[in-house]
Amino acid sequence: MADQSNQRHPKKHTLNSTHFQGFWCPSEFVPNIISFQNHFQALDDDIVLASKPKAGTTWLKSLAFTILNRHRFPLSVSPLNTTNPHDLILFFELSHYRNGRLPDFAGISSPRLFSTHLPYHALAESIKQSNARIVYITRNPLDIMVSQWHFVRSMPELADWPLDACLERFCRGEEAFGAFWDHVSGYWKQSMENPRKVLFLKYEEMKENPVGEMKKMAEFMGCPFSVEEEKAEAIEEIAEFCSLSNLKNLKVNKNGAVKNVDLILQTRSFFRKGEAGDYVNFLSPEAAERYSKIVEEKLKGSGLTI
Ligand code: A3P
Repeated sequence: MADQSNQRHPKKHTLNSTHFQGFWCPSEFVPNIISFQNHFQALDDDIVLASKPKAGTTWLKSLAFTILNRHRFPLSVSPLNTTNPHDLILFFELSHYRNGRLPDFAGISSPRLFSTHLPYHALAESIKQSNARIVYITRNPLDIMVSQWHFVRSMPELADWPLDACLERFCRGEEAFGAFWDHVSGYWKQSMENPRKVLFLKYEEMKENPVGEMKKMAEFMGCPFSVEEEKAEAIEEIAEFCSLSNLKNLKVNKNGAVKNVDLILQTRSFFRKGEAGDYVNFLSPEAAERYSKIVEEKLKGSGLTI
């Protein structure tokens, strides 16, 4: 009889990481990253969504897609109703350039939307040299850590990964696409030097003032909301549509799966609590202080407070 569990998880999830070009990443991504760096040709109106895993990538993808395509797809017929955000906007390093594949972008309408977990310095040169724009999202690193721990544990082979091991990994800066402080400061620096190139968003500010932050996003992406749209509360409607409670309850995000490299991930694992400060429910005050102090020390002098 066929091994059903193996069919559902064709490749075993592991936490094998390698230090590559100054950051940590799962070893199997390296050839994809090199291929992306060597081949991707950015267009001036491209938009790249960048984040560390668990910083709010899924939310950012949903918002960017909906804002950008709002005149094409009324919310009732949005592809997000039936497609997970990660299948609508693919990662360069996990999907577009996986397994030696060279993607054909000919059919994609402009502005093209892409996503990446790579740090700024590892982006393809053409993204940096062109007028392509980058929307970056970050989040309280303690919440990123706890969210990452939950996410990893949602994979059956890693269900017993201890929180202590996760904490140690983050304290050493060895988590996927880490160190956190390098990732965040790379994009922060660019956003300070060239605010037309990089829009720097924070998850907590998005939660506190979604309308204000979405207006910033729309302007940055070149599709500002009109006065009429504002009066008609179109921004609030999009915020509600892209909310965790709405997306989490869609059939596609309850029972579906997405493929990242060769890993099959359950769509529901991208939607958990979505709260700011949830780390207090999992980390002891001592553990939280230990990691916070490391991050604070590493970001000293950058002007960035997280
Ligand atoms: P929690 O684990 O704290 O709940 P990423 O998308 O980068 O993988 O990050 C996942 C985190 O974002 C999870 O955080 C998840 O619940 C939260 N999230 C997913 N969709 C969201 C949405 N629409 N609004 C707010 N948070 C969302």
